[in-house]
Amino acid sequence: MNIAYFNGNFLPKDEIRISPDDRGFLFADGIYEVAKWYEGFFFDMESHLIRMKRSLREVRINWPGEDSFPAFAEELIERNQLSDRQALIYLQVTRGASPRSHAFPDPEVPPTVYAFVNEFNSHLPGSESGVRIMLKEDFRWNRCDIKSVALLANILSFQEAREKGLWECVFVRNGLITEGSHSNIFFVINGILYTHPESHYILSGVTRKNIFRIAGEAGIPVKEEPLPADKIGTIQEAFTTNTSAEITPVIAIDDLKIGNGLPGPVTKLLRKNFDAEIISLGKGKTKFT
Ligand code: PDD
Repeated sequence: MNIAYFNGNFLPKDEIRISPDDRGFLFADGIYEVAKWYEGFFFDMESHLIRMKRSLREVRINWPGEDSFPAFAEELIERNQLSDRQALIYLQVTRGASPRSHAFPDPEVPPTVYAFVNEFNSHLPGSESGVRIMLKEDFRWNRCDIKSVALLANILSFQEAREKGLWECVFVRNGLITEGSHSNIFFVINGILYTHPESHYILSGVTRKNIFRIAGEAGIPVKEEPLPADKIGTIQEAFTTNTSAEITPVIAIDDLKIGNGLPGPVTKLLRKNFDAEIISLGKGKTKFT
């Protein structure tokens, strides 16, 4: 049975009832967060919590219980018997249920808080061999730094990639590569890692931030500089990052083969070090050792 979290309670998922007046349903008026459970611990839950609070603040949703997220996330894992597995938690917080009006409910109503967990293994097909992606003009709004549930542009773009047999659609804004529909993107040029700087045009990925640290520890310099789409021919490697798939090597962008068409050495090293970190964190933190 799948047990989910709903407004302070743990319930079988199919017993949860959400109002048709919920502003998440009517307006996509809400934010979300996704974190990964590795057989005993959530990877960098602290950063997910900080980002979730920031998203809430930016959209002015008031959730007094926001600090309870890490604790109920663990409880959800336990209640779903996923403690010794890998899993993803999805959390969504909306501005609550109220008759439809563009203005915020007045008086304020409690937010709707919903979370579920699913078993999920990050080592997907393509994680080893590399994936092909496409570029597309970024037609999203200009607050991509907020993890809003309003993902229609991301969904349409991802679906377009999917229908072409590609792993991801990566956006280009003002001639510069920003990020993917559900991932950040990095490039390697002459041994240096490049990725778009934090701005309103990208989500500040938790994986992205950890890559900076892991690259630094491996002596790989990182530059937060956007890559112009017309300089794509100058790169030797590319990879995407996100919580669910971790680090995914990119071997082709549109019709262009990257490097020799195989995952490159910098990408492989970062993947190896990321995996090693998960194993060593597990040794310290898992309740099952
Ligand atoms: N997506 N950029 C976008 C637009 C994203 O949706 C995501 C994550 C990222 C990477 O962020 P992180 O490393 O913190 O997962 C970047 C999640 C996984 C999702 O929508 O399911």
